[in-house]
Amino acid sequence: MHRKPIVVGNWKMNKSPREAIDFVKQLEARVREFDSVDKAVAPTSLALTGVSDALQGTQLLVAAQNAHWKVGGAFTGQVSATMLRGLAQFVILGHSEVRAYLAETDANVNRKAKAALAAGLQPIIAVGESLAQNEAGETIDFVRGQVSAALAGISAADMARVVIAYEPLWAIGTGKSATSEQADGIIGAAVREPLRELYNDSVADNTRIQYGGSVKPGNMAEFMAQPNIDGALVGGASLHVDDFAALVEIAARVKGS
Ligand code: 13P
Repeated sequence: MHRKPIVVGNWKMNKSPREAIDFVKQLEARVREFDSVDKAVAPTSLALTGVSDALQGTQLLVAAQNAHWKVGGAFTGQVSATMLRGLAQFVILGHSEVRAYLAETDANVNRKAKAALAAGLQPIIAVGESLAQNEAGETIDFVRGQVSAALAGISAADMARVVIAYEPLWAIGTGKSATSEQADGIIGAAVREPLRELYNDSVADNTRIQYGGSVKPGNMAEFMAQPNIDGALVGGASLHVDDFAALVEIAARVKGS
């Protein structure tokens, strides 16, 4: 079984639409040769149209940072998965910052994942435990619960389009990453093995799972070398062209064939 590596830069609330377009043009030229890796940028939703236009016909893909489960309606400030059609290939759902600051629930992540799939998008479902949960030894049960709740009612066939990102909260933006062995063990026990029970061996063996949390060029190779890790969801380092390009190059070198 070969899982194509996937590196996604989550820019969060950074870069204006104009800065985003300049950036992706530079980045695209730097990562073009690495076609053994899927790579995407997730700019502010304001920049999705411009970035998508700038990247037409290239292999640098676009991700949205969130999407509502309804097609349209009275939901101030929201963007629907349907609206993203043609602008993005991926959508990040359940990011811990959305869970923490915007009261995102597992039930909503599940609704959003189904809506994203129905709209032809590939959801990147983010899961991960807090420092307190980690220290209390609750990580595996908690993350496993997030995974099964997010995937409720999603078919094995649709799982081919789902990516899961394991991001321990205590490693996000802190400079403190999980060790690669730690991350691999948690991903195995809390994400990949449960997929075997929730679905079957094929889904468990073929679903792409990213690690996220203070990933940078200096630690990317270690993470990519782990058997359960197929890529990275990257915040801070993805804001710099050199670092982003290095992450893609490392993913290609370690797991690209
Ligand atoms: P950092 O890479 O800045 O730690 O952010 C990780 C993250 O939250 C990506 O979604």
